[in-house]
Amino acid sequence: MRGMFKLALGAAAFVAAAIGALILWPIGNENRPITLAGDATRGAYLARAGGCIACHTDFAAGGAPLAGGVKLATPFGTLYSPNLTTDPEHGIGSWTVDQFARAVRQGISPEGAPYYPAFTYPFYANFSDQDIADLWAAFQTVPAVAEPSTPHKMLFPFNQRWGLKLWRAAFLEKPQSEPVPGNDAEWNRGRQIVGGAAHCAACHTGRNILGARKSDTQHFKGSTSLPGGGKAPAIDFETLQKRGWTVENLAFALKTGIRPDGDAFGGAMGEVVLYGTRFLTAEDRRAMAVYLMDDHSGG
Ligand code: HEC
Ligand code: HEC
Repeated sequence: MRGMFKLALGAAAFVAAAIGALILWPIGNENRPITLAGDATRGAYLARAGGCIACHTDFAAGGAPLAGGVKLATPFGTLYSPNLTTDPEHGIGSWTVDQFARAVRQGISPEGAPYYPAFTYPFYANFSDQDIADLWAAFQTVPAVAEPSTPHKMLFPFNQRWGLKLWRAAFLEKPQSEPVPGNDAEWNRGRQIVGGAAHCAACHTGRNILGARKSDTQHFKGSTSLPGGGKAPAIDFETLQKRGWTVENLAFALKTGIRPDGDAFGGAMGEVVLYGTRFLTAEDRRAMAVYLMDDHSGG
């Protein structure tokens, strides 16, 4: 009996020590300090392409731009996108550009805590210093909204952020980096937007039970685990081709939300177009379509 008790106590002490170690375990890399001047117009373009505005503005409730409050229901609880306005208390008005860079590219808060990957930061890891400076300049133009962010309602143990350090160690993907040789500039631009800012794989690649994308086997093969339990169809090259998509009608759909059969995109995809891709240049939309309709768009 006493032996058992000691064992249980030992196990509890071990778990507590392990959690303690996790809490202290440092994450992320040193940022190069960002000293570049930002271009707010270019930053606003990137904020559209990246869905920052879409996901941090509660359009349905008539919310102010970037004031947050969009609900993201996950199997682990509910997240609410936070207030990103210039309010120094409730928004990010008191942040530095370097704290912003670390949050957006690495998913780490100014206090050193990891963010939930429902915030699509893994796709933004490749933003250049210039991209970050531009985004930051654009965010400085957003009027302050003095409303606190809605607290997340995550279930135990997912409400413990240290657990996300394990998630990061197991699943955080290396961002795709350099252009792929043998493809032209348009293809590589398409790949950069699709795989980066526009985060198409966030909804079109299946996820495992811990919410990590199965990029090696399920890339663009569709997903049944969208926030709120929604589904997204496959958009791999073979499927798109089989379903009658071409570079032209895909670029058109990203502009208008109208599919080749004349129907409009519904749900989450309607919003991707409404708040995102329709604001992009015709060249960028075409580049995305060229990349997606290519037989090695997985690259
Ligand atoms: C799919 C929805 C979604 C998209 C798209 C998105 N975010 Fe977020 N973002 C979130 C959520 C949810 C959180 C809260 C994460 C957490 O608390 O762990 C967050 C947190 C943040 C934070 C930290 C705020 C704080 O108070 O700590 C910053 C900064 C941020 N996002 C910037 C951006 C930028 C810049 C973009 C576009 C490039 C972007 N987000 C796109 C959902 C999103
Ligand atoms: C927030 C989730 C989400 C994101 C991000 C997203 N999609 Fe979708 N997508 C969907 C959903 C849901 C549908 C199904 C829409 C419908 O049935 O009307 C869809 C449908 C599509 C279709 C139609 C496929 C078919 O044959 O029916 C295409 C093409 C597509 N998406 C391309 C993209 C591209 C390109 C991106 C990146 C710019 C993207 N999606 C980003 C959720 C998303």
